[in-house]
Amino acid sequence: VTTPTQDGTGVRAVGRARIAARTLRGDRWWLTPLAYGLTLLIVGVYLAYAVFVNKDYYWKPYISPMYSPCLTGNCVADSGWGWFPSINPVTPALIIIIFPAGLRATCYYYRKAYYRSFFLSPPACAVPEAAKHYRGESRFPLIVQNIHRYFFYITLIFNCILTYDAVIAFRDHQGHWGHAGLGTLVMVVNAILLWGYNASCHTCRHAIGGRLRHFSKHPVRYWLWSRATALNARHGQIAWASLVFVAITDLYIRLVAGGAFNDPRFF
Ligand code: FES
Repeated sequence: VTTPTQDGTGVRAVGRARIAARTLRGDRWWLTPLAYGLTLLIVGVYLAYAVFVNKDYYWKPYISPMYSPCLTGNCVADSGWGWFPSINPVTPALIIIIFPAGLRATCYYYRKAYYRSFFLSPPACAVPEAAKHYRGESRFPLIVQNIHRYFFYITLIFNCILTYDAVIAFRDHQGHWGHAGLGTLVMVVNAILLWGYNASCHTCRHAIGGRLRHFSKHPVRYWLWSRATALNARHGQIAWASLVFVAITDLYIRLVAGGAFNDPRFF
């Protein structure tokens, strides 16, 4: 067994114990980064497919969250706002995906997940990273992660739109109110999870309660901050649930719109 040289940072920094073993962890620490990496890969590939396929995203009154708001002239009839001309082969989803994808890519929780799973940086607690030097996020390119807060604010607009979509999903195919099907339920749950994701975001917690000297002078903000803090502790779980559910919502609407099965109606 060779003794590692102390020529770097982290566990190789001068003064750290010289331990030859890669890690002293005896559990299956690799299981979590593996599971997270596979989940990100599978959901990511599906969502990329949904973005580029450009069909079966609308079945009145349901619209896939990947295509809402549908802003270009080539949106399926009745589904879009038509603000921009068609820019073939750019799909309507490609224009809007930048913002929710940007929020997730720069999210503090996902950063932890994908740094561990894809860059092994580090792969797990008490398991040294492969790179010799730790560069952190204080210089390019990772310093760009700091734009997270802007994605947070922009995606609040998306959440409002998807909530509106969920409300108008209480109409039937002819546009009459007071009806609901399984797709309505799926869209409502999707909207709630997306709000939960933003509400539990670190930026949200800071925007509500940050920079306050005295909580006692701001009881409303303190109350909101307490709620955001409680949600923030669950941010990881909400992040997974909301991501997977966006894919489920798209898939459900895609299957109904494609004629794979009929949307079961509750009333
Ligand atoms: Fe995850 Fe902001 S920290 S969305």
